[in-house]
Amino acid sequence: MPIRLREENGFAFSADEVLGQITDKTRLIIINSPANPTGGVTPREEIDKLVAGLMEHPHVALMSDEIYSQMLYGGREHVSLLQYPEIRDRLILLDGWSKTYAMTGWRLGFAVWPDAAVDHVTRLCINDHSCVNASAQYAGLAALTGPQDAVHDMVAQFDARREVIVRELNSLPGVRCSDPGGAFYAFPNIEGTGMNATEAQNLFLDQAGVATVAGTSFGAMGEGYVRFSYANSTENIQEAIARIRKIL
Ligand SMILES: Cc1ncc(COP(=O)(O)O)c(C=O)c1O
Repeated sequence: MPIRLREENGFAFSADEVLGQITDKTRLIIINSPANPTGGVTPREEIDKLVAGLMEHPHVALMSDEIYSQMLYGGREHVSLLQYPEIRDRLILLDGWSKTYAMTGWRLGFAVWPDAAVDHVTRLCINDHSCVNASAQYAGLAALTGPQDAVHDMVAQFDARREVIVRELNSLPGVRCSDPGGAFYAFPNIEGTGMNATEAQNLFLDQAGVATVAGTSFGAMGEGYVRFSYANSTENIQEAIARIRKIL
């Protein structure tokens, strides 16, 4: 069951809302902060509250996708669920190289599982993908053990582009964009254009040559929003918004 993420909360999830939806049948809660597609970052207070609330629901496991853990802006901190020993026996943490090291094509990720699940997930991996090829494993090792300045430079670049895209999007008629705290996406509200998410996505692609993703591609609650990735140059971002401005 999806939980609505609200623009006015910077698309952070509300622990009370998540906890309020738990029933006897709930087995797993999946969370993702910083988030794709919203760029939302859930603050520590909400995560504290979620973990505290889960003490009353020992049958519920947690999967935390922290792939954007290195990409936070405006002084925000990443709060890893690994920081909470009280839920370690039911936490699955997902991370990887795709974002931090821009190694999307290498198909390399990692997960931390509770002891009791390791044998099961090992069997799943052996039968699902066997193992990662050796060269990609060496590349992953080099990324982790080498200097990290490239990561910091990239995140600083993203931060600068983030400011540009948010400002530019907010200057478009009918478009309102809140400040994304992490990842590399802007998730503007486009209701004021009179279009729905799919119409806006198609218009931007067909008439302006700009690829975006309708919010509804991520679930029905994404209606009224379109996802822009700012993993591109500032010049291209400015060009993209200028082209969209002409057709709105
Ligand atoms: C929320 C989320 N998790 C994980 C991934 C990473 O996927 P992969 O490791 O398959 O590149 C992405 C990439 O788009 C993502 O947005």
